[in-house]
Parts: sequence; structure tokens; C-alpha cells
Amino acid sequence: MKLYIISNRLPVKAVHRDGAYLFTRSEGGLATGLHALHTRYEKHWIGWPGVDVETDEDRRSIREELAKMNFHPIFLTPEQIANYYEGYSNSTIWPLCHYFFAFTRYRKDFWEAYRKVNALFCEEILRRIEPDDIVWVQDYQLMLLPGLLREHRPALRIGYFHHIPFPSYELFRILPERAEILRGVLGADLVAFHTHDYMRHFIGTAERVLHIDFRLDETQIGNRCVRVDALPMGIDYAAFHGISSNAGAQPLIAKTREQFGDRKLILSVDRLDYSKGILHRLRGFGSFLERYPEYRGQATLAMVIVPSRDRVNSYADLKTEIDKEIGAINGRYSTMEWTPVRYFYHGFSFEELAAMYYVADVALVTPLRDGMNLVAKEYVAVKNDNPGVLILSEMAGAAVELADALPINPNDTEQIAAAIHRALTMPVEEQLRRIERMQAVVSTQTVNKWAADFMKELADVCRRNEAVRRK
Ligand code: G6P
Repeated sequence: MKLYIISNRLPVKAVHRDGAYLFTRSEGGLATGLHALHTRYEKHWIGWPGVDVETDEDRRSIREELAKMNFHPIFLTPEQIANYYEGYSNSTIWPLCHYFFAFTRYRKDFWEAYRKVNALFCEEILRRIEPDDIVWVQDYQLMLLPGLLREHRPALRIGYFHHIPFPSYELFRILPERAEILRGVLGADLVAFHTHDYMRHFIGTAERVLHIDFRLDETQIGNRCVRVDALPMGIDYAAFHGISSNAGAQPLIAKTREQFGDRKLILSVDRLDYSKGILHRLRGFGSFLERYPEYRGQATLAMVIVPSRDRVNSYADLKTEIDKEIGAINGRYSTMEWTPVRYFYHGFSFEELAAMYYVADVALVTPLRDGMNLVAKEYVAVKNDNPGVLILSEMAGAAVELADALPINPNDTEQIAAAIHRALTMPVEEQLRRIERMQAVVSTQTVNKWAADFMKELADVCRRNEAVRRK
């Protein structure tokens, strides 16, 4: 029995360098989290390898390399990348689900491409699967896929996980294709979200748009039951928690410490995305330096921003704004010895990143909306016997579980400034106490537990549906 994980992006991406293809890790919570997943099933993964590949020869060689890892690529044309990925996925659904209603673009060619690419994934899956395999579809780029698969294989076991927020009915109803999208998702046997709020929004929206009824967390579509649940995704806790004894990371921890000296280190890590509240965070840090001048020269904000979706206008514009804001803060406060904001516009290796988490006195996580935010969990996990404070936006899914973080509303610059000050002056015992309590949660709700819970519930719904079909 095989488990097919289906996501827009594979957990590795092919990068063309010096006439050859190299494979590197993909960015983003979904790929990072799910890649670490261990399961008793033979795990296969279908998705886009992240590049536009021109020749059949190159496609063949990429396919062969990926097959060694049980990864199976879906190649997209430049037009599909523009209209399905940058278009409908990231200029229509993404902004809408993150409450950036004004950024949402409605174009027929985006929608057509979205339908076509979902159908392309469907064909590839149908070519590969056997009747007792399980298909687990991931995220908003593939919301039509469960429905398409269901049309062809009524008895197939299909799960769907939505990794980003699901907005309230008032917002989702704006989408012209709302009914098709919801019907697509309901092709799955189990549909899950990170939080109860997203789940509640989904149920309310489906009831009102499709005129169906839910009984608590279930609805009946024909003779099939569809269950909806909230299952918060976790991380590979052991990998992060063991970082201080990881031989590869030890010299990096020492180097990071040396780099930042005795100064307090405030760290943030995200993809470049308007939903992450990067400008709000910078303004909050600027205000902190303004209000607490004793910290000038004493605290550094290290911002790791991983390039993302840079051909979508709203992302490219944001990059310019961030550069400007950092320039303004650094221009105003820098001294010969100190740069207030250290800005890295590129990714880091797992060990480098974990070393930064380990050394950082504060993690500043300020999304305006975020499905979950695994960075918050990674920071908590890395801490061992060393203190640290997590400042976390109330708008991140992770805030539901991480009650011992310092909560902030990212729209409140003054609150961010005050939270940084509180974090930097918090007694060590309190820091350790809070971290310990959060670790109790993060070490229990790991990525493997999350997946096992999902699979168990999926099996349960499928068993019931099968019994009904047999009658
Ligand atoms: C978020 C989404 C993922 C996505 C990731 C990276 O975590 O939930 O589905 O893969 O961002 O975005 P990208 O557009 O680079 O795949």
C-alpha cells in the first residue's frame, strides 16, 4: 500500500547550474514539514520541481533522478507557471485566504489554467495509483483535485489538508468560482485545517454556498460522508532539539555567537510575503530603538528573508519597500561598530538556521495572517537549556498552541516595541519556564503525530464509506 503525497511543489527543487541540474531543499512550511514525515506506508510524492524545463532530454534526466527518491515531477510550461501558480494560486486564492482582499485578481485565464493544471495532476495520479493506495492532497493550489479524482475513482481514499487560513464566508463568497472550488475540496473523505477557526469558516462557507448541511463535523455528499477536522501541523522536534549536540551545527553556533558578540540578537525568518508582516516588524523595531535608546548599539535584528514568488507584482513591490525601510533604520541608527538590522535576502542551510535560533535571545514572528507558522515552533524546539523568548502574532495559527509566547497584534507597532523590551528584560527563569511549557506542546504535536492522526481519521471515514457502498 502506497501513500501518495500531492503538492504543488516537491520538497526538493531542481536548479539549473553550469549546464546540469542540482537538487536543493524547497522553502516553505509545507515542504519542510512534510519532508520530515516518517510513515509506515511507502511514501511517494508528486509535484512540480520548481523550474521551467525546456527539453525532453532534461525532463527525462530530472525524472530519473527524482524517481530515486520516490518523487515524481509534474512539469509546468511558462504559461502555466504564470497563470496557474503566480496567477490563480498566488494572486487570487492566496491573498483572499489571507484577508488581502484588495490584492486579489480575478482573471478567466488564471482560472482556466488552474483547472487545467489540477487536471494534469489528476491524470498523473490516475496513471500511478492502485486501488488500495491513499492519496493525500496538500494545499490551496490543488483544491479541485480531490473532486476530479473522485469522479474517476469513486472508491479511492482521498485526504485534503489546507495549510493556509480559510477565511470567513463574507470573504470567500467574493470568489467567482467559490462553488466549484468547494465542491472540489469536498471530493476528499477527510478535509483538515490547522485550527478550529479555519474549520468553522470552511463549514459555514460550504453550507451557505453549496446549500448543504453539516452535522457537527460531517456532511453527506451522495452516499459518501465527508469529515472535517482541525489538526495542527508540527515539526520534526528531535532534529531541532538535538541541534546543540549536532556536530555539524556546533561550530556554526560558536561562529554565530562570535558574529553578534555580547549584543542581544532578535531573529526573524520568513519567505518574502506581504502576509508575514515584515514591514510592521521593521517599524516595530524602529519604534523600539526610538523609545528605548539604551538598546541602541546593544540589540541587533537579524532578518532572514527567503526570496519567494518574485514575479508576482505585490511581492516585487514589497521587496522594494522592505529595502527602503531597512535603509531608513540603518541610516538613522548605525554606528561604526553596529548595524541595527542585519538583512539576509537568501536561504540558509538547516544547520545554519538552527544555530541562529539557538543563539537568538528573541524570535520575532509577526505575520498579519499565517496558516500555522512553523518557524515559531522550530525556535521553541531548538532551545535546550538556553533561554529565549518567542514574540508571536495572534494572527498565526501557531498562537493557538503556543500560549506561552508573548502575544502581539502585528498592526500595533507600539505593542511590538513594548514586547521586544519585555522580552529583553524578562528574567531567565521565566524565559526557561515559558520555553519548557511550549516545548511540552511542540514535542508532542510533531509532524509525525500530525500525519498519523490524519491517516487514522482518514482510514476511519473511508471504512465507514466502504461499508455503505457494500450494502
Ligand atoms: C506556504 C504554502 C505552501 C507553499 C509555501 C512556499 O507554506 O502553504 O503551499 O509551498 O508557502 O511557497 P511557494 O509558492 O514557493 O511554493
